[in-house]
Amino acid sequence: MGTKRSAKSHAWNQRQNKDIYVREARARSLRSRSVFKLEQIDQKERLFRPGFNVLDLGAAPGGWSQYAASKVRDSGQVIALDRLEIDPIPGVKVILGDFLDSPVVAELNDILSKITLHLVISDMAPNLTGIKDVDQPAMGNLVTMSATFASQHLSEQGVFVAKFFEGAEAQNVKKTVARLFSEVRVRKPDASRPKSAENYIVARRPIKVGI
Ligand SMILES: C[S@@+](CC[C@H](N)C(=O)[O-])C[C@H]1O[C@@H](n2cnc3c(N)ncnc32)[C@H](O)[C@@H]1O
Repeated sequence: MGTKRSAKSHAWNQRQNKDIYVREARARSLRSRSVFKLEQIDQKERLFRPGFNVLDLGAAPGGWSQYAASKVRDSGQVIALDRLEIDPIPGVKVILGDFLDSPVVAELNDILSKITLHLVISDMAPNLTGIKDVDQPAMGNLVTMSATFASQHLSEQGVFVAKFFEGAEAQNVKKTVARLFSEVRVRKPDASRPKSAENYIVARRPIKVGI
């Protein structure tokens, strides 16, 4: 058992050392390799502008928030939420809590009621069990909850970007997001490992029902 686990972690270490994005993140003292996924989606989609207010869901350790803060500059604001602690980042307001907890959502509602929200980015993923029938619905639920929340809070031209998993739940996820937003695209940035089921949905202009 121990040998199997150490062989697995040896393989993981080897893959990390070979990975150009891991090396680049280390060289530039970035907090995560994930930041390159956001950067590549941004290069295609032009997500950020100086002065934008951004909500980063599932932000720890803070790579995406660092990138967002550098893009929105001093005139914008980044709010970063995670159930794990995030070391302070200049220009980023950190909220510690679970996005699926009502008091945390109430705190977010309160903050967002005072600003115009331009962009919601979510790299959230549930704790994976390795059992597809458990992981896929859990991921689907996170995307549905965050897309619904984003559509209620974003400005008219607002954009929602979220990680999801291709697989059994993907059609439902895409349908739900398409009901909430006027324009929906899927992106697989080069930095996302080809074998990984992850993909990113980019949705624009929330459909405000009853307005
Ligand atoms: C892949 S990491 C995010 C990496 C981040 N984008 C970066 O560049 O540093 C996913 C994060 O989602 C968080 N997460 C997952 N489910 C969550 C939830 N329900 N509420 C808050 N955070 C959650 C995890 O704690 C984890 O830190």
